[in-house]
Amino acid sequence: MSTTEADTAALAAALARRFGDADGLAEAAPTDANARARIAGLADHRVIRAYADRPVDPGLINLICATALSAPTKSDLQQRDLVVVTAAATRARLTELCGGDAWMGTAPVWIVACGNHRRQRQVHAWRGHSFANDHLDAFFNASVDAAIALAWLVAAAEAAGLGCCPISQIRNAPQAASELLGLPDLVFPVAALTLGWPANPGNLSPRLSLATTVHHERFDDTAARDHVDAYDARRHAIHPYRRQRDTGRFGVAPAYGWSEEKARHYAEPQRTDFGAYVRARGFRLD
Ligand SMILES: Cc1cc2nc3c(=O)[nH]c(=O)nc-3n(C[C@H](O)[C@H](O)[C@H](O)COP(=O)(O)O)c2cc1C
Repeated sequence: MSTTEADTAALAAALARRFGDADGLAEAAPTDANARARIAGLADHRVIRAYADRPVDPGLINLICATALSAPTKSDLQQRDLVVVTAAATRARLTELCGGDAWMGTAPVWIVACGNHRRQRQVHAWRGHSFANDHLDAFFNASVDAAIALAWLVAAAEAAGLGCCPISQIRNAPQAASELLGLPDLVFPVAALTLGWPANPGNLSPRLSLATTVHHERFDDTAARDHVDAYDARRHAIHPYRRQRDTGRFGVAPAYGWSEEKARHYAEPQRTDFGAYVRARGFRLD
């Protein structure tokens, strides 16, 4: 099998497991071998929650950051920054703030993707122009820029053979995380990323079908419930949940699919203080 055929086969396998309704899609991949390999790599994404006891070269970390910051940015405003953490004590504290899962402690590198609206305000002060957009959009734009950089961080890390996992749990204790990382007003964590050499190949996680989530010409979710039921069944067959969430409150479900898991997940209040934190950082959210 040639490299191109192998990439096409890998892409077809990844898409089939991921979506269930991606028949023939891999054949639409570009004929250029590099382009095909790039797409196959992206489609094969999986988070890694176990890292080898092996350092990541600082030059490679910088390269990944530079690649991530090459992502598009709203109006070229560049309202996102990355905080790279390798110091053991800071990583240990981040692990603690993010819930303390043992696997997080195995990551030799953390990178925190932050929204940064502070620089925009500084530019206004330096150039002597008033800022006339003090409303929700300022927070939203910086959040989107940081999220895009995060996605490109993941893509760059995986292209380099590294493994990573975004961690929104950093927003469980945003004030403490901000103090730990020295984040000033108008700079806030969107998500952290654990990074290292993978200790296992991870698991390709099935997604909702393309019929559920790709809309052609007009949005249409009239079949959403059937689609979600079908996804629950397909996902359970491929990769069942190992345990059910909060059986004390919800009992043991005879069929525990994605929709039951997610409904249980968000039946608990989470981060109810996040709005207060964001306002305290200097944003107006109206
Ligand atoms: C913004 C963002 C925040 C996330 N936060 C966490 C987290 O706090 N803890 C965690 O274990 N995984 C986290 N993840 C990883 C997701 O759980 C994971 O992407 C999802 O289960 C799908 O798996 P996959 O990325 O391997 O396809 C996060 C992912 C994203 C994009």
